[in-house]
Amino acid sequence: MKYHIVTYGCQMNLHESEKIAGILREKGYEEESPMEEADIIVFNTCCIRENAENHAFGNIGSLKKLKRAKKSLMIAVGGCMVQEAGKAETLKEKFPFIDILFGTHNLAELGDLIEQKRLQKKAVLSVPEERRETEDGISPVRTSYPNAWVNITYGCNNFCSYCIVPYVRGRERSRKKEDILAEVEKLVKEGYKEITLLGQNVNSYRDGDTAFPALLDEVASIEGNFRLRFMTSHPKDFSAELVAVMKKHTKICRVLHLPAQSGSNRILSLMNRRYTREKYLDCVKYLKSEIPDAELTTDLIVGFPTETEADFEDTLSLVREADFASAFTFIYSPRTGTKAAEMEGQIPEEVSKVRIIKLIDLVNSLTRGKSAKYVGGTAEILCEGYDEKKGMYLGRDPYGRMGYFVSDTNPIGEFVTLKITRASGISLYGERI
Ligand code: SAH
Ligand code: SF4
Ligand code: F3S
Repeated sequence: MKYHIVTYGCQMNLHESEKIAGILREKGYEEESPMEEADIIVFNTCCIRENAENHAFGNIGSLKKLKRAKKSLMIAVGGCMVQEAGKAETLKEKFPFIDILFGTHNLAELGDLIEQKRLQKKAVLSVPEERRETEDGISPVRTSYPNAWVNITYGCNNFCSYCIVPYVRGRERSRKKEDILAEVEKLVKEGYKEITLLGQNVNSYRDGDTAFPALLDEVASIEGNFRLRFMTSHPKDFSAELVAVMKKHTKICRVLHLPAQSGSNRILSLMNRRYTREKYLDCVKYLKSEIPDAELTTDLIVGFPTETEADFEDTLSLVREADFASAFTFIYSPRTGTKAAEMEGQIPEEVSKVRIIKLIDLVNSLTRGKSAKYVGGTAEILCEGYDEKKGMYLGRDPYGRMGYFVSDTNPIGEFVTLKITRASGISLYGERI
C-alpha cells in the first residue's frame, strides 16, 4: 500500500507531514508514491491567507475523479484549515468523498481514525477543540536530509490581530528541554547536518527555568559538525542574551528571521505586535553591532486595514534602514474570527497590489545588491540536492542563499566551499574549491 501527502503552509506543517508519514508507515502504508498510484491521500492544509485555502479547496475537488476510478482510495484532510471554526463541516458537505477529517490537535490519532474508517462506511470527522495528545511520541519519516526540523513549541499566545494561528493551533506549549536535546543528539549522530528549531515564536520558549537563549546554548553545545537555525523570533522578545548565544557559537547561522510586518507605529499597534518601529530598528542595530556579519530576514504585510500611503512609506523606509537580506511579502488577507477582519477601513485589493509590487522591487534590489557582493568571494554550502533542469547540485549557505555548482561526485549531505562566479537574485553560482 502506498501513500501520498500534499502539504500547504509553513515549516511547522511540512514537519507535521513528516509525522503523518510516520503514522502511515505504522499503519502499513509502505512508500510514498505519485498521487495517482496512492491508496491513501492526505492533505495537510493551511489557512493563513485566503489563497492558501482556495488552493487546497481546488485541489481537494479534483480528487473526485481519482476516487471514482478507485473505490478503495482513502482520502484524509487535516491541518489548520480543518481546525478553523465551521470549516470541517463545509468541507464534508462540499466534498462528500472525503473519508477522514482531522484537526491540528489530534494528529497523533490519525492511525486510529484510519482504523475507524476501515470499519465503517460513513466519513470520520474528528476535530477536537483542545489539544488531546502531544506529537512527541511520533517518529517522523524525514524527507529533507541533510536538514531536520525539531519542534520546540507548539501553538501561539500572541494574537496578532490579523492572524488565525492562535485560533487553529491553540495555546503555546513548550516541549521538555531533555526531549529536544535528545532528539537533536540523535539526529546529529544519524548524520543530519542542519537542525532548525521550530516554533511560532521560539523566543517565548520556556521549560522550568530554561528560556530560549539557554536552550539554544545547550543545543549548540552538542558535539558534531552541524548548523543550527531557529524560527520564528518575535521582535518583542528579542534579547541581548539571544545575541550573546548567537555570538558564542559558530554553529548558529548568523541570520535572524525577525518579522517586522510593518514600519508604521500606528499599524503595528493595530496589529497588536507590541513593539514600535524604533524598538525594531534598535534590535537590528544591536544585532549588527555585536555580530557585524549578521543578516536579517523578515515578513511584511501590506494593505492592513486603514494603512495609508504614509504608513506604507514607513514600511519602505524601515526595509531600507534594516537592510534586509530577503523578505517574505504578503497582501493582508482578512481571516474570519480575527480582530482585524472586523476593523473599518479595509484596503481595496488594487491599492494593496500596487503597494506590494513597490515593496517587492525594493526587497529585490537589496537582495540583488547583497548577492552581487558575493561574486569573487567564497560561500560555504550544505549540499541538499540536485537540480535536474540546471544539471547542478544545490544547497544553502548559512544565510539561506541557494548556491549551485557542478560536481563529479555526489556531495549531498556535505559542506562544500564554493568560489562564487555569478549571482542572480538570491541564487549564487560557483565552482567547488
Ligand atoms: N509565527 C510567525 C509566523 C506566522 S505566519 C510570526 O509571528 O512571524 C507567517 C507570516 O504570515 C506572518 O509573519 C505574517 O507576515 C503573514 N500573515 C499572517 N496572517 C496573515 C494575514 N491574515 N494576511 C496576510 N499575511 C498574514
Ligand atoms: Fe500569528 Fe502573531 Fe502568533 Fe506569529 S506571533 S503566529 S503572526 S499570532
Ligand atoms: Fe502554518 Fe498555515 Fe497553520 S502558516 S501554522 S500551516 S495556518
